[in-house]
Amino acid sequence: MAEKREFRAIKGTRDIFPPDSSLWNWFEQAAREVFESYNFRDIRTPVFEETSLFARSIGADTDIVGKEMYTFEDHDLIELERQRAHLTMRQPPLGNLNDFGVYEREIQDFVDSLGRVTADGEMANTPENSKARERIGQFLSRLNMLQQQFVESQSTVLQHDYQIVLGNMIYSLRDVEFGDVLTLRPEATASVVRAYIEHGMHTLPGNAKLYYIGPMFRRERPQKGRYRQFYQIGAEVLGQSDAPAIDAEVLEMLLVFFKRVGLTRTTLYLNSIGCKDCRPKYVEMLREELRKVKDQLGPDSQRRIETNTLRVLDSKLPEEQPIIERLPRISAHLCDACREHFAKLKEELKLRGIAYKENWRLVRGLDYYTRTTFEVTAEGLGSQNAVCGGGRYDGLVELLGGQPTKGIGFAIGSDRAILSIQEGRKLPPLPGLSVFIAWMGAKTYPTAVSIAKKLRDAGLAVELPPEEMKFKKSLGLADKLGARYALIIGEDEVASGTFTLKRLADADQQRLSEIDLLEYLESERRG
Ligand code: HAM
Repeated sequence: MAEKREFRAIKGTRDIFPPDSSLWNWFEQAAREVFESYNFRDIRTPVFEETSLFARSIGADTDIVGKEMYTFEDHDLIELERQRAHLTMRQPPLGNLNDFGVYEREIQDFVDSLGRVTADGEMANTPENSKARERIGQFLSRLNMLQQQFVESQSTVLQHDYQIVLGNMIYSLRDVEFGDVLTLRPEATASVVRAYIEHGMHTLPGNAKLYYIGPMFRRERPQKGRYRQFYQIGAEVLGQSDAPAIDAEVLEMLLVFFKRVGLTRTTLYLNSIGCKDCRPKYVEMLREELRKVKDQLGPDSQRRIETNTLRVLDSKLPEEQPIIERLPRISAHLCDACREHFAKLKEELKLRGIAYKENWRLVRGLDYYTRTTFEVTAEGLGSQNAVCGGGRYDGLVELLGGQPTKGIGFAIGSDRAILSIQEGRKLPPLPGLSVFIAWMGAKTYPTAVSIAKKLRDAGLAVELPPEEMKFKKSLGLADKLGARYALIIGEDEVASGTFTLKRLADADQQRLSEIDLLEYLESERRG
């Protein structure tokens, strides 16, 4: 017998089950309704994509790409993978011709297998793979030559060369890509942009206004409000115009949604981080200033000065705060076009009565942003209090191979937003069980089955016990399940063609014909 063991959800993931799942459905449904009222339509993209799509969009030096992605090679060449793992561990010594002979045969065998699976189409015939195979062949002959020279000269100077070639052989073995390198999406903007280009959505009339709801994956340290599988509701606008009215409308829609779901104690933070013309000059100046104070910064910020300068502004370390506050601010270094865009956006927000706080340090953790960036924080969440992040990304479509296109969007972290709603205790009335059918006696069962179906067809939530229950137990269960009504069907009722409907809240009871019952419950449902 198999060993008994319990399975648990993987660290950083969780189950969302009743009653919370009803709250989640209600939350997502509200988003659909609000977003569709702004003429957004939903898009569903795959949860995994080519790794390079994310690396290119989000940026190789970001935390997400650098350390948080779930990446895997997509193939079923398990035996070849094992063979490679074995070969990369092999170090046949110089001078042991027997062992080297075995090694040579193993490598040759591996290269032959690669040729076979490539010919069969099981492995992609990419230029990188052909090059890797070629190099493996070259390194093998070089190793062979060094072995021969050693037999003849017994010269230990050859040892150095031999080790280097062996090292290169290992690298070349590792370079072979058995399958596509894929990643579970850490966010969806890159996917939406990929889909926009792939399906030529630029030819559609007007802007493409798209929204999505679904899971994202980041290998972060789990804590309250931070998970490895989390859910986002996002929206993106792609098209030719970068009018500030688009930014403002997106923000208005976001706040209308938050209001609809009772997430009101929020703060909107706003910034402009410039464009490809003005930002590089500012970043250069910032880097110069940071180099001067490098010694006073922690190791993370020190590293970021060179790799991702703007991210230093994101630091939460208390001892770095006074230093950061004295750094030059981007608002003073925006080009005329960016300054005007930001000013117009603020006018648009005023027109719509949207309150915000400017935060010059809001640079966001993804590289694709230009100009407008924003974040919304909510209460009751502790350190992970950002419930939404977004901004403009005017160069991203082009970066991913499309025509010059403007873009802006946001993503709401549903896990956090829902946590904040739950902490605020302003929960909505959620749909529950309407009718529990208390049938008694085998003769009543066919009537119970038939009326259950009719009530369900009429849109009511109905529970029909699959096995006969004692009357008292039956009503007890109806109560525990939170049913509004118990529909009592005994032999009396069947004989007279009526039903007894009992309202559980006040025990009010009435006897109704089938037609009256359906009419009564339907009008109840409609409110
Ligand atoms: P982001 O700021 O990386 O932006 O994520 C947006 C929101 O997702 C965050 O504000 C947070 O609420 C939630 N979130 C992020 N990571 C986690 C996590 N590990 N656990 C729980 N919630 C999390 C983006 O993803 C951009 N794609 C937004 C965007 C769309 N920008 C333009 N368009």
